[in-house]
Amino acid sequence: MPRVPYVDFQAQFDEEREELLPLVETVLRRGDFVGGAAIEMLEQDLAAYCGVRFAVALNSGTDALLLGLKALGLQAGDEVITPPNSFVASTAAILGMDATPVFADVREDQNIDPQAIEAVITPRTRAIMPVHLTGRPADMRAIMAIAERHGLAVIEDAAQSIGTLIEGRMTGSFGQIGCFSAHPLKNLNAMGDAGFLTTNDARIAEEVRLMRCHGMLNRDTVVRWGTVSRMDTLQAEVLRMRLRRLPSVIERRRRNAELYGQVLDPRIFVPRGLPGAFNTYHLFVAQVDRRNELQAFLKDRGVDTAVHYPVPIHLQPAAAGLGKGKGSFPVCERQAERILSLPIHQFLSVAQIQYVAEQMNAFLAH
Ligand SMILES: Cc1ncc(COP(=O)(O)O)c(C=O)c1O
Repeated sequence: MPRVPYVDFQAQFDEEREELLPLVETVLRRGDFVGGAAIEMLEQDLAAYCGVRFAVALNSGTDALLLGLKALGLQAGDEVITPPNSFVASTAAILGMDATPVFADVREDQNIDPQAIEAVITPRTRAIMPVHLTGRPADMRAIMAIAERHGLAVIEDAAQSIGTLIEGRMTGSFGQIGCFSAHPLKNLNAMGDAGFLTTNDARIAEEVRLMRCHGMLNRDTVVRWGTVSRMDTLQAEVLRMRLRRLPSVIERRRRNAELYGQVLDPRIFVPRGLPGAFNTYHLFVAQVDRRNELQAFLKDRGVDTAVHYPVPIHLQPAAAGLGKGKGSFPVCERQAERILSLPIHQFLSVAQIQYVAEQMNAFLAH
């Protein structure tokens, strides 16, 4: 029986080994484990790739969200509008500022619905935090228009969407701030936790650079209170190498998605997304009936899948205090029961994708 793994780090290592191992050795010889020229070079490469003036390397996407909200001057009690179907980090960052997450339901493409945003704006709303879930862009034109009309900041959670475009413009470059993750499972992945923030605002970039290193202007001068959220130099070297490979990673993922489109039964719903969108397929998510049964059926036939995410954030035990029970966000809640992430990684063969689709189609025919 063929096996189709959901991720394949071994294949990534085999592909990169000759470039990767000398990088590790270089850092070990240099001994610049924290900070140094590699960080600055990575930041320049990332800013150029993302089409923004500044990128600030950090230790995670979560910290990009947290420090980004801090740099926006968010105060306790301010409201930030965000979707309830993200990874928990988006909402956690808002709560981490003692601000209030206000959820807005999503569209059939799993991204926040601009109309739902408009419906929950109050005098306390300070910012909108859209999430480009799965690598498919949220409707940034509509969201920016709403933000401008109401004088709100926009902080994009682009953790899953590096390289994703809307009419040729990178996600993460529409709002004041873009927040990216380079977690090992992301399309641009480090060998551990890493992330970065993008902005065109020199003040925000400077402030986040200060905050990531205890507000230290230099070794002896602390100009504001901060934290430690630096990216390791080793991760920066790996990411510089992998950023050069990213277009090929994205191309192969897009090819895989196209193949699925050709071989999956058309009754299996895979949302198309916005016109003019360039989807980078961090995830390839189908929406199906009897999802749990299908997932078990695939597992028995050697196909690993995942669910991003089975429990919407507002229904997590930790969110009980937010007072949003079942039924609050019907589109998101229905999707949570139907979504299934199929293997989409760049090392899949045509035969593997055909095999996955055959099994899915066979289940449907039952
Ligand atoms: C949508 C989303 N937001 C935020 C994050 C947080 O990123 P990190 O895991 O690098 O902290 C992730 C990734 O895990 C994510 O998928």
